[in-house]
Amino acid sequence: MDEITVHSPATVANVVCGFDCLGFALSEPFDVMTLRKIEQKTIRIKHHDDFGLPTHPGKNVAGAVLGSILDNIDADFGFDIEITKRIKPGSGIGSSAASAAGAAVAANILLGDRFSKSALVEFARNGEAVACGSRIADNVSACIFGGFTLVRATEPVADVISLDHPTLFAAVIHPQIEIKTADARAVMPREFPLTTAVRQWGNVGALVAGLAKGDYDLIARSLEDFVAEPYRKNLIPHYDELKTAGLQAGALGGGISGSGPSVFMLARTREIAGNVVNAMNRVYDKTEIAVNCYVSDVEKNGVRIARDVIHGQ
Ligand code: HSE
Repeated sequence: MDEITVHSPATVANVVCGFDCLGFALSEPFDVMTLRKIEQKTIRIKHHDDFGLPTHPGKNVAGAVLGSILDNIDADFGFDIEITKRIKPGSGIGSSAASAAGAAVAANILLGDRFSKSALVEFARNGEAVACGSRIADNVSACIFGGFTLVRATEPVADVISLDHPTLFAAVIHPQIEIKTADARAVMPREFPLTTAVRQWGNVGALVAGLAKGDYDLIARSLEDFVAEPYRKNLIPHYDELKTAGLQAGALGGGISGSGPSVFMLARTREIAGNVVNAMNRVYDKTEIAVNCYVSDVEKNGVRIARDVIHGQ
């Protein structure tokens, strides 16, 4: 096989309490990427979208990932990649991760499945480094594995764990403002008091247990963040109102998606998630801020082979 088209899903990193460890994949939106093996030892990148992303292989997220894979296998060939981004860059729902993970998975398929999923996470992190300067693993792990994932250790990545979970739907609102991941990381303290750490890891453990047991009440109680939200929420207009509106509409809980500006809430049914997104949308109705909204289930498989999507549509 010399050509493959994949769908690469959006992801929610952190899942409120699991900063840089937890994530899950969304069914909507997703990017479309077609990768071809070419004889020339080069990487050619074409974008079918209006985001003006760089196409130099060293500066493009997918290009950096493909370059690291070609270097790793000392390849005597190259890749041509066409990308239609449907996940807006800077949205906080894993746009760069989708490019990075999609490129890694597509390349692995063309290379005869020679790498493990954990190895693909390591390659994909090279793309995250291009996007934001940090080799963040949570979005790319959820994007490659699908479902809910926990990354136990990050240097190097060890134990990307797929988490059992009950039926859950996500309501996501993306206010059209820009927050750079590097800036959202810069506002966070480097060190935390032990009491804060204890509260945080109590919630992480309880969230994982709540997901495994299908205990929605425990999930709801565990969606609490003392590490990122207090410092980042000021970057998102009307953040507290959004959360209140979502909770009143029946959400289990939620918070900032990744580094923002998207805000997500989890709900037990698609109907409740629809009510939640409408309630959050009404918060921005009285402002000048435009939004994109998504209601999605949890995408189970991660990056997958596409059969029916044409670039640019
Ligand atoms: N865990 C990362 C952060 C995700 O919150 O900075 C970035 O999308």
